Amino acid sequence: MRFDILTLFPAMFDGPLTESIIKRACQAGLVTIDVHNIRDYATDRHRTTDDAPYGGGAGMVMKAEPLAAAIHAVIAARTATLPDATATQEPHVILLTPDGELFSQAVAQELARQPWLILVCGHYEGVDERIRETLITRAVSIGDYVLTGGELAAMVLTDAIARLVPGVLDAESIVEESHSDGLLEYPHYTRPAVWEQLNVPPILVSGHHGEVARWRRQQQLQRTLQRRPDMLATAAARGLLTPDDLAFLKTLGWSIDAKI
Ligand code: ADE
Repeated sequence: MRFDILTLFPAMFDGPLTESIIKRACQAGLVTIDVHNIRDYATDRHRTTDDAPYGGGAGMVMKAEPLAAAIHAVIAARTATLPDATATQEPHVILLTPDGELFSQAVAQELARQPWLILVCGHYEGVDERIRETLITRAVSIGDYVLTGGELAAMVLTDAIARLVPGVLDAESIVEESHSDGLLEYPHYTRPAVWEQLNVPPILVSGHHGEVARWRRQQQLQRTLQRRPDMLATAAARGLLTPDDLAFLKTLGWSIDAKI
């Protein structure tokens, strides 16, 4: 899978995406991440990428021309050099902005099915609306708070999406992790069996695989009820809860109709 990231601050990407799992995914050729400096596409003497807003008001707006030139150049370069499926598909051009659709595991899963994403990092008060109207296919926010720019958000998307690309992680850990089945994950323990007088739950060292699976499922349900009851309602509506799940939840005082 290919990520092209367009930013005014390319150095910000040096650390986070060149370590650990994402680094290995790139080395294995499963993921390609290229960071492009939007300023390289500004044509005036001062390489201007922002300007004052029409109509007045605080802050600056990212200019249309350098941004459009950068997006067109990235698309043209890839389309010319990659004679594979990536080149023949239109990329999704995603703007990171606090007024975008909220990012979630479901959005990550959807985007991980794409072969190619272009991520555009917004800055200042935002980008000229005409870029959004013509070149941006989707606007995404990573949460209801305002960052100084879209760079950290682009890193969050790249990390969350790249780890879902087949081969990057083992398939089992993706199936069992928080959010992927609509519930939070069960708790984990590793050696030693007793630490600071705290025991590992005996069921986990019992060797009864069926009982372990049942305990883990119940832990997921209990934790989700305690921490994210909104997720339980959604999981129920999506048909992700089994009759056993619903019976267990009933013992905890939760039912589909009376969402406590
Ligand atoms: N840019 C500034 N704040 C942001 C947010 N919350 N999500 C995505 N991009 C942003």
